Amino acid sequence: MAQGVAFSLAGKVLELLSPLICEEIKLACCLKADLVNLKSTVSIIKDVLLDAEKQAHHRAVVKGWLEKLKDVLHDADDVLDDVATEALQRNVMAGNKRTKEVRIFFSSSNQLAFSLKMGHKIKAIRERLDVINKEKEDFHFNVGSNEPQIMNRDRESRDTNSLVREDEVIGRKNDKNEIIGLFDNNIVDDISIIAIVGIGGLGKTTLAQLVYNDENVKNEFDLKLWICISDNLDIKRIVKEVLEQMKEWNHEESIEVMQQKLREKLNGQKCLIVLDDLWNEDYDEWLRLMNLFMGAKTGSRLIVTTRSKSVARIIGQLHVIF
Ligand SMILES: Nc1ncnc2c1ncn2[C@@H]1O[C@H](COP(=O)(O)OP(=O)(O)OP(=O)(O)O)[C@@H](O)[C@H]1O
Ligand SMILES: [Mg+2]
Repeated sequence: MAQGVAFSLAGKVLELLSPLICEEIKLACCLKADLVNLKSTVSIIKDVLLDAEKQAHHRAVVKGWLEKLKDVLHDADDVLDDVATEALQRNVMAGNKRTKEVRIFFSSSNQLAFSLKMGHKIKAIRERLDVINKEKEDFHFNVGSNEPQIMNRDRESRDTNSLVREDEVIGRKNDKNEIIGLFDNNIVDDISIIAIVGIGGLGKTTLAQLVYNDENVKNEFDLKLWICISDNLDIKRIVKEVLEQMKEWNHEESIEVMQQKLREKLNGQKCLIVLDDLWNEDYDEWLRLMNLFMGAKTGSRLIVTTRSKSVARIIGQLHVIF
């Protein structure tokens, strides 16, 4: 797993905790107190994670400690998701109190049972985290707040391509098939979009590579394009890279000519296009990007990988894989 995973996970857990702790969400008081304590412990641990992830490269004992921490953070993520879903349902249903179901849902015993159950789970997570927090004292980590290298969008270091060593990839067959299953041939959109969304280092690019290189997928499309976006959305660079892949790039041509040429080349072709590592949250920019591929034949597919749920929302078609 890549550097930065534990740091990203801790950040995600903190992101889930903040709205749950804030006042608008109707949760039992005891649950709220548990969540506040959990947030404080996760914040303290997160502060040393950058150094810990660096040290894990040469200290097996730190690596083991990080693995243990990641397990707990994954469990915390699951439990908090449940709490957030319940809280959301309560807030929605609070505006619709006439139905019988809502009265049942809001019965105090139901609420209490849920709070007790979650309270136990959160307490167990806190106890595991407390142990991990104590253990960290032995490692004398530096406290720091800069994001790890993998979080920096340095284009050179983050450039990807479609190649993958399939024999080294563990346990992604079902996810790959799930995505291929989404290539529904009945869809009448010119280009339908699948987003793979998740925190850094969890294997989004790897999953997209597996789909891209699948034998059945290969046969289904006339043309496949892998485009690594990463830094700012630079349409000119993207057009140039795509034409290069198609061996059609001519350095003397203007962007307008290149764009026209790209449109002609895609015209009538059933395309599979991967946009890897998209960060753009500007809707107009997204439309400009999509415009490049508009000539592609009905039934073409676009797979986007991104860490950001906001990006996925802008794209509109949302299939969350993680
Ligand atoms: N299923 C897997 N089995 C083995 N190794 C994996 C698997 N998935 C990912 N990896 C490895 O983990 C590392 C990170 O994976 P990948 O680059 O796909 O993550 P990502 O989610 O795209 O991250 P980012 O958000 O930084 O782009 C890579 O070195 C990759 O080879
Ligand atoms: Mg990636």
